[in-house]
Amino acid sequence: MDNLTYWKDKWIEVGSEYILNKKTTNEAIEIWNESSKNYNGMVDIDRIDTVINKLENEGYINEDSVVLDLGCGTGAYPIPLSGICKSVDALDYSDGMLKVLQRKISENNINNIDIIKNNWNDLDLKKEGMYKKYDFVVCSLNPGCYNPTNLLKINEASKYGCCYISTDGKGKNERLEEADNIILGEKITTTDISNIIYPFNVLHFSNYNPSIFYVPCNWIVKSDYDKAVKKLTNRYKDYVDIDKDIEGNIKKFVKDNIIEDVFLEESKNTLGVITWKVVDS
Ligand SMILES: C[S@@+](CC[C@H](N)C(=O)[O-])C[C@H]1O[C@@H](n2cnc3c(N)ncnc32)[C@H](O)[C@@H]1O
Repeated sequence: MDNLTYWKDKWIEVGSEYILNKKTTNEAIEIWNESSKNYNGMVDIDRIDTVINKLENEGYINEDSVVLDLGCGTGAYPIPLSGICKSVDALDYSDGMLKVLQRKISENNINNIDIIKNNWNDLDLKKEGMYKKYDFVVCSLNPGCYNPTNLLKINEASKYGCCYISTDGKGKNERLEEADNIILGEKITTTDISNIIYPFNVLHFSNYNPSIFYVPCNWIVKSDYDKAVKKLTNRYKDYVDIDKDIEGNIKKFVKDNIIEDVFLEESKNTLGVITWKVVDS
């Protein structure tokens, strides 16, 4: 088997158990709509400045750049990029995320961000006039691109540079690990689908020259008692029968770890940031 086929197959294989891959499109969008309610305060924003500085210093973006942010969420990248680049198209399929972004655009009187509500999976770039339209495409923490086809489609939208951001696969959520040990007696191993080594190798063996750098990034999730119990019940329902004992253990764990009505999880991660050019410079 050649190297490209190996890495593509491997990525698809590790993704087969990924929870979002088992949802219908509408179910996945609903999850993102729900997540949009707290997304702003959840993911570390220091990562954004680090990445954008590096992109500017390496000449990927400047005041003439026409940029696409793919899976833009509530605007982590479009808002700062709008202050540097000529224009930004912010694409996402979640109304909830886009509503928050629209509010930020209005509040800040920004006039060079266009919102595009669309699903990257079935977006026809030529039909939408997006084929080779952009000087630069960024795709950050977007599960819609956790597969070789949707990753390589980025190259069709860009005429110069691209940036793909995902995790280094070594993240740690101590609270959930502790809960796993108490409730299941062992740690749940989660899918490796977001590990940056897969897109890096797919790009490398597709004859691009990706570069990689790493940026620390922590997630904080705050839940009230009911939400935390529901979350842990959902986490364990595929592993054990949620009988009275397990239900009691989950409730006790949440009670023991709730402070001032908040069950807090801190997930410590490092992001892998890949940049590459679709043409020789
Ligand atoms: C974790 S958020 C990342 C947001 C932002 N890029 C960031 O770095 O904070 C993932 C975003 O990707 C969007 N998304 C996931 N799959 C998508 C798809 N197939 N088409 C368009 N957007 C998608 C979700 O709606 C969500 O807003």
